[in-house]
Amino acid sequence: MPTTCEPDDSLIRPPRLPPKPKVKLSVQTLPRTGGIGFFGPLTIHPDFWDRGVGKRLMEPVMECFENWGIQHAGLFTFAQSAKHVGFYQRFGFWPRFLTAVMSKPIAPDVRARQWSTFGETAVDDREMVLSACRALTNSIYAGLDVSREISAVADQNLGDTVLLWEDSELLGLAICHIGPRTEAGSGTCYVKFGAARPGAAVEQTFGKLLDACEELAGSHKTARLVAGMNTARHEAYRQMQARGFHTDLQGVVMSQPNEDGYNRPGVYLIDDWR
Ligand SMILES: CC(C)(COP(=O)(O)OP(=O)(O)OC[C@H]1O[C@@H](n2cnc3c(N)ncnc32)[C@H](O)[C@@H]1OP(=O)(O)O)[C@@H](O)C(=O)NCCC(=O)NCCS
Repeated sequence: MPTTCEPDDSLIRPPRLPPKPKVKLSVQTLPRTGGIGFFGPLTIHPDFWDRGVGKRLMEPVMECFENWGIQHAGLFTFAQSAKHVGFYQRFGFWPRFLTAVMSKPIAPDVRARQWSTFGETAVDDREMVLSACRALTNSIYAGLDVSREISAVADQNLGDTVLLWEDSELLGLAICHIGPRTEAGSGTCYVKFGAARPGAAVEQTFGKLLDACEELAGSHKTARLVAGMNTARHEAYRQMQARGFHTDLQGVVMSQPNEDGYNRPGVYLIDDWR
């Protein structure tokens, strides 16, 4: 089992296993978005549940978060499972609000668009765009930074990032996975992370951002748009419901320390920590 990992690593790799493994375990991802860190799914082979293996796997996860100086760590798990909630609570994670993973059907779109994407941004301009993204997310939660995820989606051809501008000011961004061999899957556009700039117009901006995501999904001929919303972001959750999003699954967010982070009213941000 690894006990250290480099800051640039987004994976804790499973240990090198013999040809016929006795224990199979993995933590799929350990992303770090500035001062926010989340992880999951944590998976142990059912033959080895309740033998302390999960707790051992959590040790290097917590060590990484500590080494990275993560201020707010979190995860998404099964709200109905006393085992899951109790397991993570041992590591200082406390249950908070539900996160709804929502979706709506998409019609193919041919409207003139009012947004751009990171993928079509000239290479020389990309650092400027990433810096604008960092400034936007930092205005929601100090240290929140998804610039590595934006670059990773572009470099690995997983989808694209919608950029909503007013003159030279970035009003919103949405990192979208599109189609097969991504976190979205066939026929789906999945908003991995989205955010609207705080301020008097944030509600309208969020509406425009959802429009842009629907248009991106339609332009790629995907049939569904999926986006996760923590229900503590009450106004944004209600706006998604009003726009026809339905909840497909829900889980509870657990946070360490037991604080709201950016899961609070007035924040118009999309993610689900899966
Ligand atoms: C969840 C999972 C990772 C836990 O791994 P595990 O190896 O079985 O867990 P461990 O044996 O290390 O620890 C179990 C701990 O759960 C807690 N627990 C179990 N049942 C509990 C209950 N009913 N109430 C409260 N706590 C409970 C206890 O703290 C227990 O530790 P203890 O016996 O020392 O007190 C594993 O069951 C799994 O892979 N499940 C399927 C995939 C999954 O659901 N992943 C999580 C997605 S978020």
